[in-house]
Amino acid sequence: MNSAICIDPSSVPKRVLYNGQRLPCIGMGTFGSDHAEPTQVSAAVAGALRCGYRLFDCASVYGNEAQIGEVLAAAVTEGIVTREELFVMSKVWNDKHGQGDILLSLAQTLKDLRLDYVDCYFVHWPYPNYHPPGCDVDARSPDARPFILEEFMSVWRQMERLADMGLAKSIGMSNMTVPKLEAVLPLCRIRPTLIEMELHPSFQQPELFGYCVDRGIQPVGYCPLGSPGRPERDRTNQDVTDTELPEVVTVARAHGVHPALVCLKWAVQRGEIPIPFSVREKNYAANLHCVTEDPLTDAEMTLLSKADRGCRLVKGQVFLWPGAKGWEELWI
Ligand SMILES: NC(=O)c1ccc[n+]([C@@H]2O[C@H](COP(=O)([O-])OP(=O)(O)OC[C@H]3O[C@@H](n4cnc5c(N)ncnc54)[C@H](OP(=O)(O)O)[C@@H]3O)[C@@H](O)[C@H]2O)c1
Repeated sequence: MNSAICIDPSSVPKRVLYNGQRLPCIGMGTFGSDHAEPTQVSAAVAGALRCGYRLFDCASVYGNEAQIGEVLAAAVTEGIVTREELFVMSKVWNDKHGQGDILLSLAQTLKDLRLDYVDCYFVHWPYPNYHPPGCDVDARSPDARPFILEEFMSVWRQMERLADMGLAKSIGMSNMTVPKLEAVLPLCRIRPTLIEMELHPSFQQPELFGYCVDRGIQPVGYCPLGSPGRPERDRTNQDVTDTELPEVVTVARAHGVHPALVCLKWAVQRGEIPIPFSVREKNYAANLHCVTEDPLTDAEMTLLSKADRGCRLVKGQVFLWPGAKGWEELWI
């Protein structure tokens, strides 16, 4: 890589979690979806490390942890970064919620990522509902079921033991809702440090976002640019394009930047940790750099707060259970 694009990691603002862990205010996503091969994603991670990224959002279901592990190990060996400077997150997939399975899943992730521990390990979805990668949006598993508190807590007890063992420095949840958190949080021996949720200007989830912040839980925002590269099967005619929203375009013009960068500045200033994905050096470097300079004004933040259109992109249809009426039931 041309090392001309290099951002000093110390210039990237940090967040401190309730347990004292520190991490950058922006990270890199690693979900290649249908269009980026594992080696393309790992090459982007290698470039991003040299560029100054220290936070990476991985998951076993992304199918590229082994390739990413190679570049993480190489970066440490080459002295580009120390393990302690990295914040690596991963997630257990829905088909590994059974008793004993979560330890096995994390063991595989640690082997693939070539790490002794992850900095945060997430429950990817609060459902044990499996679907084969790349399946059609109408596919339904006959074993799929709705959220069951006892089942989720048996998953979380296993997560807590992984934290006790030091294999995960902290544990997190993803794709939760306020009612589910209301049921779950009082039962947690170890509370989540991070909760991953879909967040972008057209989908701001103010209630869930505020609920987490009020309880000292740090929100991590996925699809922060509105996931323009998501597969065709995840698109509907009602979807809004974040980078074309008039509020976003107005602010982008005022700052002379691409609308994608406005989405990220807004996210960071709002207090979330966005995890944009890109395989292009020009884009991932700009994504990191933009949060170190030229902040949005209060008036611009107010304008962008009005860009919310309630436009959920990751609807999760494939996790529905037989008899469910529609994807909205996943988000109750
Ligand atoms: N917890 C969950 O259930 C969950 C669900 C979905 C996603 N995630 C995580 O969130 C991450 C991000 O979500 P995402 O990948 O769906 O969407 P995203 O980050 O909103 O959008 C990624 C797309 O934006 C383009 N892009 C990136 N930077 C850009 C820039 N500066 N200018 C213009 N275009 C730019 C990329 O194209 P190029 O590659 O061409 O730059 C890519 O196609 C994932 O990778 C994954 O780690 C988690």
